Amino acid sequence: MYRTKTCGELRLSDVGSHVTLAGWVQRIRKMGAMTFVDLRDRYGLTQIVFNVENDAALTEAANHLGREYVIQISGTVAERTSKNPHLPTGDIEIVADELRVLNASEVPPFTIEDDTDGGDDLRMRYRYLDLRRAPVRCNIELRHRMTMEVRRYLDSKGFLEIETPMLVGSTPEGARDFVVPSRMNPGQFYALPQSPQTLKQLLMVSGMDRYFQIVKCFRDEDLRADRQPEFTQIDCEMSFVEQDDIINLFEGMAKHLFKELRGVELTEPFVRMPWADAMKYYGSDKPDLRFDMRFVELMDVLKGHGFGVFDNAAYIGGICAKEAASYTRKQLDELTDYVKRPQIGAKGMVYARVEADGNVKSSVDKFYSQETLQELRKAMNAEPGDLILILSGDDVMRTRKQLCELRLEMGRRLGLRDKNKFACLWVVDFPMFEWSEEEQRLMAMHHPFTHPKDEDIALLDTDPAAVRADAYDMVINGVEVGGGSIRIHDSALQAKMFEILGFTPEKAQEQFGFLMNAFKFGAPPHGGLAYGLDRWVSLFAGLDSIRDCIAFPKNNSGRDVMLDAPAALDPKQLDELQLAIVNIE
Ligand code: AMO
Repeated sequence: MYRTKTCGELRLSDVGSHVTLAGWVQRIRKMGAMTFVDLRDRYGLTQIVFNVENDAALTEAANHLGREYVIQISGTVAERTSKNPHLPTGDIEIVADELRVLNASEVPPFTIEDDTDGGDDLRMRYRYLDLRRAPVRCNIELRHRMTMEVRRYLDSKGFLEIETPMLVGSTPEGARDFVVPSRMNPGQFYALPQSPQTLKQLLMVSGMDRYFQIVKCFRDEDLRADRQPEFTQIDCEMSFVEQDDIINLFEGMAKHLFKELRGVELTEPFVRMPWADAMKYYGSDKPDLRFDMRFVELMDVLKGHGFGVFDNAAYIGGICAKEAASYTRKQLDELTDYVKRPQIGAKGMVYARVEADGNVKSSVDKFYSQETLQELRKAMNAEPGDLILILSGDDVMRTRKQLCELRLEMGRRLGLRDKNKFACLWVVDFPMFEWSEEEQRLMAMHHPFTHPKDEDIALLDTDPAAVRADAYDMVINGVEVGGGSIRIHDSALQAKMFEILGFTPEKAQEQFGFLMNAFKFGAPPHGGLAYGLDRWVSLFAGLDSIRDCIAFPKNNSGRDVMLDAPAALDPKQLDELQLAIVNIE
């Protein structure tokens, strides 16, 4: 037997028992006649002690161990004289009487401890070693527990877990496809699914009624902290439902996960905010509601007083930072520089402080009387000690997005974005389409299978840009953790949607004929949603990047630095696939 106990389970009540453990050497300390070894496995860390006075040869052997050696030890559990309150096993140690080296190790490229000296790149190259570190392992364990809870919840609600293929045709979710050449069909390519969207709809046509899948999705898009080229969805679809049925069921799942995995009881229904309000008050379709700091539109108050920047603006909006009037000139300059960064693109920032006596002092005092500034103060609901920050611009949406960045930055600076606080909401009533400058056409905001709101269907012919969709996103702490919609289940309406999106009937038939044909054979009304598993885990674990909850993630250039992928293909493989690499200028 390799072990009778793990490295995480021995306590004071085990003192006196004889045990065998196996694991990795995290650390060796020699102190006089004694040698201490910290032995690690997935379950924890246990201190092993070797003493020259008990067994000189064994202690000598322990002195020759190196970091990350795999060893097996036997010994007697003893109470420690100096206990370690930070370690669950910190009250005991094992006085060793046997040691077996199961495998030696080269010196690892970084220290495998909670706080490592290894940089990001090195840790990713040796990810299998990084995964030995407790904080990373805890994230993987949390991920496991989450998928187990998801399965338990959905099974209890009658969902069937059904797998869908990875080698499919193009599935439009707005990103580029990853493609796979077919050897047996030269010159033809599969696409990896951006999501199982159309397949899960077909499962509804099949009468499966309630489907789910914890599934890999692939999207070739620009990467960010919360985006990976392959990521995992908790993908769901239901038949004979309306928007409320879906929202209620998945709000229930969210509450279940919070309770089971974070011990947080969310008793109130989640806020449901129309998309138009989210944009108006927070400048974002994923507002962070851990703090208020809503936008106030100030066109009426500040336009027409001779300050050219505001007089010519299409939008002027402000936020009120509570108790931040003591911000120094330097801090305000930093904030101005922040919003002027090219990624944000504001031209400048105006500020106004409400002083202790109620007077308002602003950076544009020469254009505004105290009377107008008091009007500003009233509009902003600002009190003595508050700081008002104002942005303006000639494009309403763009300026709101800039003000959103400023709001988030102020929230961060004022410590209002506490990772242990959770603000959940649904954003509803999304527009059906958005205009793409790049493509010069309307694009589906969610995807082309989303049902327009019944009351807006008439607008499809006259003013498609004004049509709202039966679509909803769940947002937690400013992160979109899921999204879905009621689907079109009528082939004529689906064909119309493709037409508005710029598909010719032939192209629509070629790409989505399978779906439109299926709708001719009794498609039930249906809808669904997908949660982003990686985002949920990283939110629960308080991570800055979803990479840290993925066992083998890609870096920001989409590379797996451990496997060194992607890589060039062997010429023989290219030949078999009838592919040739050509350089296109
Ligand atoms: P959507 O595209 O909104 O919807 O994706 C659903 C959820 O998946 C997560 N997500 C991502 N996570 C990590 N990296 C990415 N690159 C990434 N892209 C998306 C987000 C998002 O909310 N078929 C629809 C769902 C439906 O309508 O049922 C879909 O894929 O948390």
